[in-house]
Amino acid sequence: MTIPIPAEDPRHVPNRAVIDPSAITQNTRDLTGLLEEHTALMAVVKADGYGHGMLTAARAALEGGATWLGVAHPASALALSRAGLDVHILTWLYEPHTAAIVLPEVISSGIDVSVGSPEMLTLVADAARQADRRARVHLKIDTGMGRNGVLPEQIRQIGAAMREDDFIEVVAAWTHLTSADDPTDPSTDQEVALFDSACDALADEVGPIPLQHLANSAALLTRPDLHRDLVRPGIALYGYPPVATDVPLRPAMTLTSRLALVKEVPEGHSIGYGRIRSTSRRTRLGLVPIGYADGLHRAGSDQCDVLVRTASGDHRAPQVGRISMDQIVIDLGPDTDASAGDEVFVFGDAGEAPTEPSATTADDWARAAGTIPYEVLTSVSGRVTREVRA
Ligand SMILES: Cc1ncc(COP(=O)(O)O)c(C=O)c1O
Repeated sequence: MTIPIPAEDPRHVPNRAVIDPSAITQNTRDLTGLLEEHTALMAVVKADGYGHGMLTAARAALEGGATWLGVAHPASALALSRAGLDVHILTWLYEPHTAAIVLPEVISSGIDVSVGSPEMLTLVADAARQADRRARVHLKIDTGMGRNGVLPEQIRQIGAAMREDDFIEVVAAWTHLTSADDPTDPSTDQEVALFDSACDALADEVGPIPLQHLANSAALLTRPDLHRDLVRPGIALYGYPPVATDVPLRPAMTLTSRLALVKEVPEGHSIGYGRIRSTSRRTRLGLVPIGYADGLHRAGSDQCDVLVRTASGDHRAPQVGRISMDQIVIDLGPDTDASAGDEVFVFGDAGEAPTEPSATTADDWARAAGTIPYEVLTSVSGRVTREVRA
């Protein structure tokens, strides 16, 4: 039996991930603007829309011109379909236990399914027979990721098996690039060459392949030659391009909290576990009730600023000492007018705030913690209330 965790009443929780769907819509619009007319855009909304809320992200991306949605888990695909989002949906990650329970409904709902091994083909074919409906299959090719995907030398055998099964319709061949975020890395061209020859071999077995797709955000932004029939951006939709770009992508999540306490301390006062920081002067410290259990990586301790909105305006304040499970400390300076209850922008876009000082981004937190904004965004935990900006 699974027991749901009781949700905390949002009115009693100071921490909010404020989602701006118009940023996702505009980002999608800007990205579709880079595509030839025949290329469609699949909005990748897995992992609860990279932490932004899957349905919120999906609806916003569709408004911006996406015509496909992509999710890892079949259960997420079903949730999109049940929400009435009448678009192409692709799901690609399942194991036998989940497949037996969920794939028949996935297939009867008209959701496309990825096959990345002979065993997965068997699971999909069995589910399609149970659903009494042909499965629309995207064959995933492992061109170097070493995860899910058939090896190029398996293509002919699996192609023949798909051709001979009336319950399988091959609608696409696809792969996922390992290194597109480094445009100088030669691996991308090597992977594309493998993909192209695998597609040729597959076409020999099953006939023309309607769709090919391989471009994530990085390849979408840097390699127009890889757009093919469909591109699959994730992180760029949420405002964090993984490569340098002129496209004015805007972060869609702002993480906010409120000061719980402001107190004056003398010079030399230590802060937090391990005393990695002490005050260099008499100052006022602010306690913010947000910590690593809310998604702030402890490895990023003592490196990023937050923005505090006080009666006199917006002020940057450094986060000092180790990040704790439920709280961080910020140095407000000796002359601050901040007081308990004032809003704190941990990262994102402070909305109506003046652009100076600017808020910290999820990229800043990622760099501080030695990780990537993908992980920062998807780490914002379930106890942080999601609030969708109107
Ligand atoms: C199969 C697949 N396609 C596309 C994406 C989107 O990648 P990105 O967020 O880098 O655009 C992902 C995300 O990791 C993925 O797993």
